[in-house]
Amino acid sequence: MYKKHFGLQENPFNVNPDPRYLFLTRHTQEALACLTYGIQSRKGFILLTGEVGTGKTTLLNKLLDWLRRERVATAFVFNSRLNVSQFFDFMMADFGIPCDTKQKSQVLLKLNQWLLDRYKAGETAVLVVDEAQNLSPQVLEEIRLLTNLETATEKLLQIVLAGQPELEEKLNQPQLRQLRQRITLRAKTHPLNLEETRGYIHERLRIAGSDGRTIFLPDALEAIHRYSRGIPRVINLLCEHALISAFVDGKENIGAETISEVAREFDLDRIEPVAPKVPDRSNGENLTLMEALKALATLVDQMRTPEEPPATPRERKL
Ligand SMILES: Nc1ncnc2c1ncn2[C@@H]1O[C@H](COP(=O)(O)OP(=O)(O)O)[C@@H](O)[C@H]1O
Ligand SMILES: [Mg+2]
Repeated sequence: MYKKHFGLQENPFNVNPDPRYLFLTRHTQEALACLTYGIQSRKGFILLTGEVGTGKTTLLNKLLDWLRRERVATAFVFNSRLNVSQFFDFMMADFGIPCDTKQKSQVLLKLNQWLLDRYKAGETAVLVVDEAQNLSPQVLEEIRLLTNLETATEKLLQIVLAGQPELEEKLNQPQLRQLRQRITLRAKTHPLNLEETRGYIHERLRIAGSDGRTIFLPDALEAIHRYSRGIPRVINLLCEHALISAFVDGKENIGAETISEVAREFDLDRIEPVAPKVPDRSNGENLTLMEALKALATLVDQMRTPEEPPATPRERKL
């Protein structure tokens, strides 16, 4: 409804994981490079993790677009509530492998034969599993066994397992140790910093056909970053509702006060302070071992990425 008012061709802030809108930050580029490199060099098993709303599914859709253009066979499993037999049904159907049996050994035989045919033809096959943090241990175990499909030298099936950070924790459980050991590459999505948030919003407006006028004022962009903590899904929510609100009020552009109103509506105003929290040192003796370990982990994390200190507590790996 506001498109004409703001000179746009389409809604810029849809929450669909539409790869057309992919904004490439340094982290996104790294993650995409890791995924494509892993697949091209037949690394076998790649893990993609990131907080909710940081762009995992969007990135996977971009990857799938690219794979399809390259004529690579793909299967995309995004329903993580499947049991083992449903998982196999879904994967076989999405690969387009005709399969009239439900018997697992037969299904695996067919899959193996099909993968060998692909391999002989010089082709790759990729299984992409999204929301993997919700998969049952049984399905995860089957996925591990799929990595056994190999020739003497190479993996026949490339697997990308994507999920929220809980997936990493899940894979740390002793019974999933073997699966964790198979992971050869790790990619991550991250929240955006302030500069990236500005770029992200401008890029979405551009793709949505904006004629270049200023819609979000500089203080609005800062407020969006503060309330969203750089999470693209929340940025979209704030921007979409700010556009509606400004349109209803007949405003030409959007300032920080409109963003604050929307943030209040969605309870985003009860955010933690932006400065990273550090354990309270005022009473040194009370620093527990756990706190000390966390502080150490944060320090190590920061040393790994010295060029970009975390902007918000959420960006830190606590
Ligand atoms: N790098 C990005 N470029 C463009 N849009 C993004 C990016 N990351 C996230 N988004 C947008 O944010 C929303 C949530 O992204 P999504 O991929 O569903 O996150 P996740 O799968 O990690 O929960 C979607 O609307 C998506 O288009
Ligand atoms: Mg997702």
